[in-house]
Amino acid sequence: MLEIEQKYANIDPVDLRSRLARLGAGPEVVHVEVDHYFNAADRDFARTGEAFRLRRIGSKNYFTYKGAKQPGTLKVRLESEIALPDGDEAAAQHAEMLRMLGFRAVAVVRKRRASFPLSYQGTEVTVCLDEVEGLGTFAEVEVLAEQDQAGEAGAVLTRLAGDLGLTHVEPGSYLGLVLALQARTTRRESVLVTTTDELRSARAEARRKRLSIGFVPTMGALHRGHRSLIEAARSECDFVVVSIFVNPTQFAPHEDLSRYPRPFDDDVRLCREAGVDLIFHPAPEVIYPGGYRTFVEVTGLQDEWEGASRPGHFRGVATVVLKLSNLVQPDRVYLGQKDVQQVRIVQQLVRDLAVPVEVVVRPTVREPDGLALSSRNRYLDSEQRTKAVCVHRALTAAAERFTQGETDPATLRRVMADHIAATPGAVLDYAAVVSGDTFAVPERVQSGAILALAVTIGTTRLIDNLVL
Ligand code: PAJ
Repeated sequence: MLEIEQKYANIDPVDLRSRLARLGAGPEVVHVEVDHYFNAADRDFARTGEAFRLRRIGSKNYFTYKGAKQPGTLKVRLESEIALPDGDEAAAQHAEMLRMLGFRAVAVVRKRRASFPLSYQGTEVTVCLDEVEGLGTFAEVEVLAEQDQAGEAGAVLTRLAGDLGLTHVEPGSYLGLVLALQARTTRRESVLVTTTDELRSARAEARRKRLSIGFVPTMGALHRGHRSLIEAARSECDFVVVSIFVNPTQFAPHEDLSRYPRPFDDDVRLCREAGVDLIFHPAPEVIYPGGYRTFVEVTGLQDEWEGASRPGHFRGVATVVLKLSNLVQPDRVYLGQKDVQQVRIVQQLVRDLAVPVEVVVRPTVREPDGLALSSRNRYLDSEQRTKAVCVHRALTAAAERFTQGETDPATLRRVMADHIAATPGAVLDYAAVVSGDTFAVPERVQSGAILALAVTIGTTRLIDNLVL
């Protein structure tokens, strides 16, 4: 049998009851249901979309298995429920049996459910008015149907919801909503780990709780740009991991590896304030132990622009991002648009190697005068800091010329280069006008193309970009 249902929030129980009465619904039957949800040992139901619970209604006990939701707007999933012997002892024995088999208790959902049986347009449906502990009041319309009747049954439910004035669809399950609530209200401690074993066990614990994982890789010296990524992860994921690792393999021998800023205590404070759950701060030998040999290259994309100026840089970036992602195994990884070529390379890596992660890209965070925030800005003295604004001004000058109709990449490039040349002490490394996907120079510039600049001021190299 398939269970076809839709859940609605923002319910007015009085209005719903009177509409049900007008449609001739049967008398309401009230139960208190306590659902103990479990996760399997061999697979993660949070990922597969399955659910398994021990439901208790008074002294009655049931096991319910729900399959993954089938594609579509209504919730259609395989449902199988069996009754167990009655009583507290039987419930405890069955829960213990599950634990012995490796199942883990995830959360308990308690609700007072008023069910209204209703014959609507020739179909037997159930409407439930649920008061869920901690979440509020919801309505569910539900029908059981065979696979070949699922389409028609779904259409009936949609019409019924209209007649009942139910408009605000709630796509989440009660379990998902309860877990999200728990994640929001649990005080965060920002656990700090430095070894892969500690990281793995913290991640496994989050998975057992069916939390989605967001990952923000950084090299520390955190600022509002990093914080914007953490906040995006915080709002979209249940469990947020930040890595702080100054990755030696992405620095060329003459670069600033040894003087790269490492204000670790400040970084930990920022993570705690921003609600990070786990900080991973490995030593170089944890990521690259003796005998380490494997590197990842994203050919072509890694060789131009930043790659040409910093040979080997993107090989180091791609390798560490893949390794960190393998350790954290996040659902989403958060990157900043500020490093646009890095974004493009990670997207390609994820696609080519089928890394099971969604890449989320967030806009560049800037100072009020337009300078993109960067860990390296702290190297600038006050005079250099004033000059540094030329990078953003050069980009906006070229973007303006594009808005006025200029589509020749060489001309736009020259606008940027002239702007930098007019700033004493600023040395142009490259000015690029490239297509967003290939990173090659297009014949004619179209919207979606990228203006990218690298400029050195004193000994500090600054990069920035704009999407046209
Ligand atoms: P890092 O320079 O510390 O940057 C970490 C992340 O923060 C990157 O995704 C970067 O694009 C983003 N970021 C930096 N400045 C930003 C700003 N002003 N606005 C928005 N996002 C910003 O990039 C790296 O570290 C490393 O290469 C890393 C990916 C961690 C691999 O070692």
